[in-house]
Amino acid sequence: MSHFTHSVSSSVLFVMLWSVLMIGASSVARAVSVTVGLDKPGAAVSPTLHGVFFEDINFGADGGLYPQRIKNGSFEFTPDPTMGWQKTPENRAGGTLSILDDQPLNQNNPHYLRFTVLDGGDGFGIYNEGFHGIGVKQGAKYTFSVYARAVSRQPMTLQITLLDGDKPIGSGELSGFTGDWKQYSCVIESSATVEKARLLLAGKSPASVDLDMVSMLPQDTWGNRPNGLRPDLVQLLKDLKPKFMRFPGGCIVEGRFLSTRYQWKTTIGDVSQRKMIVNRWNTEFEHRPAPDYFQSFGLGFFEYFQLCEDLGAKPLPILNCGMACQFNSGELAPMDQMDQYNQDALDLVEFANGSPDSTWGRKRAEMGHPAPFNLDRIGVGNEQWGPQYMERYAPFAKAIRQRYPDIKLIAAAGPSPEGKDFDFAWKQLRNMPVDFIDEHYYADPSWFPANVHRYDNYDRNGPKVFAGEFAAQSIAVASPKNRNNWQSALSEAAFMTGLERNSNVVAMASYAPLFGHVDGWQWTPNLIWFDNLRSYGTPNYYVQKLFSTQIGTTILPVQIADDAKKLFGCATRDDQSGDVILKLVNMQSAAVPVEISLAGLASTGALSGEEFVLSSDDLKAENSLDQPMKIAPVETAVNGLGPQFTRNLAPYSLTVMRIHR
Ligand code: AHR
Repeated sequence: MSHFTHSVSSSVLFVMLWSVLMIGASSVARAVSVTVGLDKPGAAVSPTLHGVFFEDINFGADGGLYPQRIKNGSFEFTPDPTMGWQKTPENRAGGTLSILDDQPLNQNNPHYLRFTVLDGGDGFGIYNEGFHGIGVKQGAKYTFSVYARAVSRQPMTLQITLLDGDKPIGSGELSGFTGDWKQYSCVIESSATVEKARLLLAGKSPASVDLDMVSMLPQDTWGNRPNGLRPDLVQLLKDLKPKFMRFPGGCIVEGRFLSTRYQWKTTIGDVSQRKMIVNRWNTEFEHRPAPDYFQSFGLGFFEYFQLCEDLGAKPLPILNCGMACQFNSGELAPMDQMDQYNQDALDLVEFANGSPDSTWGRKRAEMGHPAPFNLDRIGVGNEQWGPQYMERYAPFAKAIRQRYPDIKLIAAAGPSPEGKDFDFAWKQLRNMPVDFIDEHYYADPSWFPANVHRYDNYDRNGPKVFAGEFAAQSIAVASPKNRNNWQSALSEAAFMTGLERNSNVVAMASYAPLFGHVDGWQWTPNLIWFDNLRSYGTPNYYVQKLFSTQIGTTILPVQIADDAKKLFGCATRDDQSGDVILKLVNMQSAAVPVEISLAGLASTGALSGEEFVLSSDDLKAENSLDQPMKIAPVETAVNGLGPQFTRNLAPYSLTVMRIHR
């Protein structure tokens, strides 16, 4: 035996011995004791704790949840009203396209296209590129519609062709146009599934027609409603069982200027009458410009209320209070012009809840919903701060309280979860009529576990907290490099144990933003990502889902004897079923054995339950369109539970145990 062979053998022996010792050591590693105080039930869990935040950012509305396939169908985009449209090549046929505004369809949409075919050839026309392409599915039907008015004596036959590149995959035809504006429609069935198709409108013989409000909507919508919403995205929301839905944002409430603030009254009624405006995310980030980002309001306040009803979520509208975004112009409505803002809020309550005999209640009934939407809360301003906000909040709140004393009011605490403006807001607002204060946290992942005790000592007798926007930013706030990775989700999970434990003061919480189009985003991270055909929930989504769907009605205290301070937990009891729901977050790279005691458990027999584990040993791991469930909860049935039992928490994991009693 050579020296070399000998030395290798002894190394192998050493490694084996070391491994045996280590395995032995970990198998006898002392379990961390976790005590759930069944005998010390606390306050009631807020019945509205987990909800969703919707804003039309990242093409979340048009081209997203609102599945309109035609971009700029109204020819109102600025500065170029033909944005999204492209003329057929000259060698194919001849004709002219002009944007006019005399005798328009209506004053809210003054521009339209005069479409004139001079030399039909192979068809003169105009292509629409859709929102990052037009997504179509094989066999699916789409309602194409357009307002048209004949201009020439010669009749026009408008051919509508769905194209995959240059290959036709569906078509329709419209004719019989008269000298008055009228809506025409046909159904196009797609023979192929294509993520980025385009649509051609063409004529083959000389004629001229005016066109406006070109639209192509899928027939497959949530609830099969005409003008309905994209079903896969609504399903993802429904699966969260959100208790409220914040809408329409976000900075979009404020606008860059007051003229482009969100005004709910322009978002209801006939879609062709809704007044389009530029989206404030159009120019917000130089590094993610979106010159083609406008708001058609096809998803307006009626559709929003209807969606809330479908989701079983309370509507939570946030309204402009006479302030444009303070990160932008910071334009202020003069105090003597605040009445219109206050009145808009009062009218919204009437639109949502008023009798069909009332002015605004009638409009709701005419849109097909005579029953009230049961609006019971309103947010005044988005991320406002400073004395100008307090000055405007006060009369706004007073006007609502006087007319609708039961409507709960939400006030803003500014964009930051601490600091001078934040402290000022809380101090001032305490003395005003306010039910919830809206706190936002966009912060480094480390901020979240470090702030798990944030609410332990909040005053239980003051206004409640609405954690209205939060998300861990893996790189920096609003950095385009932020990722929805497991580290961000796990840190949010740790923090959320503090929200649940304190849900007698934190009444509502919502991750933000909700949606991002993979080709059209301005902001990241987002809870749900999608392209024109597919969508997926991020690891952050599954954290929200577990917290929202696995929750009881009474808070139970949890004690964790963890010296490393890397284990976080909370528990609740479901008063109806008696189930105990325990959530444990392990932020360590190693598995952690825990010895769980259910203090005060009456029965000593074996109990069963379910365990949901969300974990990955790679903190950088993410879900994607191709791997949508890479990080998703794994559910298993568990047995043999009792007053004391042990579990092994996976490395970097959120474990939710539902224990039946
Ligand atoms: O969620 C994205 C933006 O972040 C919201 O519009 C705004 O309220 C916050 O600053």
